Amino acid sequence: MPQLAAILLAAGEGTRMKSAVPKVMHALGGKPLLNWVVQAARAAGAAPVVAVLGHGAEHVQAILPAGVQSVRQRRPLGTADAVLAARAALAGRGGDILVLCGDAPLLRARTLRRLVAEHRRRRAAATMLTAVLADPTGYGRVVRVPADPGAVARIVEEKDAGASERRISEVNSGAYVFRAAALWPALARVQNRNRKREFYLTDIIGILHARGQRVAARRTEDPEEILGINSRRDLAAAERICNRRTLEALMDAGVTVLDPGQTWIEAGVRIGRDTVILPGTRITGDSVIGRGCVLGPAATIDASRLGAGVKVRSSAVEGSRVGARVRIGPYSHLRAGTIIAPGVYIGNFAETNRSRVGRNAKMGHVCYVGDALVGENVNIGAGTITANFDGVNKHPTRIGKNAFLGSGTILVAPVWVGPKAMTGAGAVVKRNSRIPAGMLAVGVPARVIKARRSPAGRDGRPRARH
Ligand code: UD1
Ligand code: MG
Repeated sequence: MPQLAAILLAAGEGTRMKSAVPKVMHALGGKPLLNWVVQAARAAGAAPVVAVLGHGAEHVQAILPAGVQSVRQRRPLGTADAVLAARAALAGRGGDILVLCGDAPLLRARTLRRLVAEHRRRRAAATMLTAVLADPTGYGRVVRVPADPGAVARIVEEKDAGASERRISEVNSGAYVFRAAALWPALARVQNRNRKREFYLTDIIGILHARGQRVAARRTEDPEEILGINSRRDLAAAERICNRRTLEALMDAGVTVLDPGQTWIEAGVRIGRDTVILPGTRITGDSVIGRGCVLGPAATIDASRLGAGVKVRSSAVEGSRVGARVRIGPYSHLRAGTIIAPGVYIGNFAETNRSRVGRNAKMGHVCYVGDALVGENVNIGAGTITANFDGVNKHPTRIGKNAFLGSGTILVAPVWVGPKAMTGAGAVVKRNSRIPAGMLAVGVPARVIKARRSPAGRDGRPRARH
């Protein structure tokens, strides 16, 4: 196989985005635009991959996947000048070079592989990817050779196109493959005599054709793929397409999505079979969801792992691990560092933060659990709060297994509640205190008064069931 390198153009500012952030860093499906292009180039077999950076280069560099080379274009003089900036990095290489725009993130690797295959089959100097669009506004138009419709004579940019050229519906995707030996000499001939005073890479097509070299073109079957992101409107359109692709792949793999129009799932998320996603749900940050879960309506899940059979209704789960069969919500909030064991019940208006909750524990109503270690089968009564912050430091709370906290208990951390211990309603357990195993503490401040009896059964587990 001949060599295949890739040059990704990403030095432009993206003026039309009206943003302080370089265009190629804007996120699509949770990943920077440029990283989608890197992924497609690599999956199409390109190596090395060279990114041409300019505007905000230090910032873009920081988000580039490992192993991608980068070069600088000193000033944004146009796409041809940007390709030239990569020349030294690829000096002495033969074979073919893919040139892709960093702002066209929806291109599939499969499409690029077909483009390269066609280029080689036809022994072309250059082969470009085109698409026929109902609305070609903004794109360069493809002018075919009348006598040989398989070949391209030139590309004319919209700003420089006449009325009849503007009516051409076949557009330049901005993705090309060049024979290296044809690319560099032709590039040197590009001039900036156009409306934008830029060195257009697209001119190279006309230059090659005029010198009798073959320029081929391949049309995508799916015109959506070539969408170039130039504005926030384009970004929203791309996000919708990206989301739809993700949801379709999940549905094909056995996930029920009740209303794809009201469900947002980032591309890196994995979801097990027979999980049902209800409307208004958003799942992000490479979350991993088990089988048979029911998520939503209105669940937001970020950077979390959920076991099988978990239910999350109208609640937020962030940076957390949630065991099998846990039920959450409505209106609860699991914050980063929460680890919930299987079988736990977290009802309404509960908040957890940097805490572990043991098997089958219950917190049904209005509570805050922060910096806490909660044992198995613990029952946290309505309105119970760990007062973990003294204004300067955060302090831990430990609640032993089978403990029962009465409604409105306030645990002024650091506090230790022994296994099977119990608090009365409204107890305020003072800082640095311990409730010994199996004992009952009541009042303000809470005092240990006797061994616990009801409402626990002999095993210390509350009889009440949810
Ligand atoms: C370009 C093509 C157009 C095609 C469209 C597809 C040219 C002249 N025009 O137009 O035919 O239909 O893409 O989306 O190539 N860049 C640099 N350095 C520069 C200028 C641009 O690196 O000096 C980068 C940008 O960061 C961007 C890419 O090249 O990622 C394309 O530039 P952009 O300004 O978006 O070109 P379009 O007007 O979209
Ligand atoms: Mg563009």
